[in-house]
Amino acid sequence: MSWTPSLSVGVDMIDEQHKTWFKKAEKLFEAGKKNQAKEYIGELLEFLDSYTKKHFADEEKYMLEIDYPEYEIQKKAHNAFISRLEKLKNDYESSGGNITVIIRANKMVIDWLVNHISVMDKRIGEYVRENK
Ligand SMILES: [Fe+2]
Repeated sequence: MSWTPSLSVGVDMIDEQHKTWFKKAEKLFEAGKKNQAKEYIGELLEFLDSYTKKHFADEEKYMLEIDYPEYEIQKKAHNAFISRLEKLKNDYESSGGNITVIIRANKMVIDWLVNHISVMDKRIGEYVRENK
């Protein structure tokens, strides 16, 4: 699952950050194929924790700047992702990366890519284009 132009939001800053996000996610799937997900999951969770928070903050700032009408919906989705991530991190720390944690991490990442980036974030770009 790689970033493709069809996933472009059309806002450079957001697209660049999404690409970085995809690269990391891809590594998780690669690691899974080689049965190394357990080793990689800790690194991924650290990345998600720091990078995703920064990315959400940047995206939210941008939405406010352009007066984006669905800002609140986005903010809620971002917060929900962060709490899901916190929970997963705690479970990872207490279990040491068992199969359930790995499956949940995979599911969380795929859900995000499919439902958030390709649906919700794309609407930001649509709004920008319509209001030029
Ligand atoms: Fe978003």
